[in-house]
Amino acid sequence: MSLQAEWLDIGPVDQLPALGARTLPVRGGREIAIFHTANGEVYALVNACPHKAGPLSQGIVHDTTVTCPLHNWRISLVTGQALGSDVGCVPVIPVKIDNGRILIGRAAALAGVV
Ligand code: FES
Repeated sequence: MSLQAEWLDIGPVDQLPALGARTLPVRGGREIAIFHTANGEVYALVNACPHKAGPLSQGIVHDTTVTCPLHNWRISLVTGQALGSDVGCVPVIPVKIDNGRILIGRAAALAGVV
């Protein structure tokens, strides 16, 4: 039995439109939001705003930030930190692109799975 892969393949980049986002359910854990920036970069955060758990996947992506749809906090896609005068942080899931496929870090993706 081999070790479990460190990275999970969640599908092709080209199915994620630029400035779009989609969600990835995690059984027993917290839903993940995958974001595609205008530059073609892909980021993943737990899909819960650090303010009141708004669905960040439904926010507007601009550069490397997403604006929460509920009360307009801006969250860095890179660090998960709230920007400006707001304070809070949402977990970031490592992402890499390999052969046009999106891979996310298994350990971070499954953190919090009970
Ligand atoms: S829940 Fe996101 S800004 Fe309030």
